[in-house]
Amino acid sequence: MLNNRLEEELNKQLNAELYSAYLYLSMSAYLASNNLSGFSNWMKVQFEEEQFHAMKLHQYILDRGGRVELNVIEKPKIEWKNILDVFEDVLVHEEKVTSLINNLVDVAMQEKDHATVNMLQWFVAEQVEEEANVSDILDQLKLIDGKGSGLFILDREAKQRIFTPPAKE
Ligand code: FEO
Repeated sequence: MLNNRLEEELNKQLNAELYSAYLYLSMSAYLASNNLSGFSNWMKVQFEEEQFHAMKLHQYILDRGGRVELNVIEKPKIEWKNILDVFEDVLVHEEKVTSLINNLVDVAMQEKDHATVNMLQWFVAEQVEEEANVSDILDQLKLIDGKGSGLFILDREAKQRIFTPPAKE
């Protein structure tokens, strides 16, 4: 059984993951409106990943006999300056999520809840991957100054991305 403090913190993280999904869906729409259908697809996959993260927490709270409490999801931004601005925001956002996950691990350790510490390790590893992927794209976008034929090629590559749920869950 989860204690109250952890139940509350896990519900907050569930809301943060749903906000992430919302933010990426908003970015996906912005990119589509700016004729970047490949990056719009990339961001839609990101939206699907975040829903997966949210559902993982949802299931975990239930499995531990906790109460899921869905809260209001904050309205995301709808406008950016350009694609570089979008990906800079993604990186800042993912760094923030990493610090939320790290704080959650700290709470689980303080509460001596080993099962939650263990479950959260999946998120710790996932954040390393998320930050690395976004940094790579941002570096490439900076290299081409976010425009021209380079952007055309990167957009085409981004179109290939598909959502694959982790096999063993
Ligand atoms: Fe759920 Fe992108 O962190």
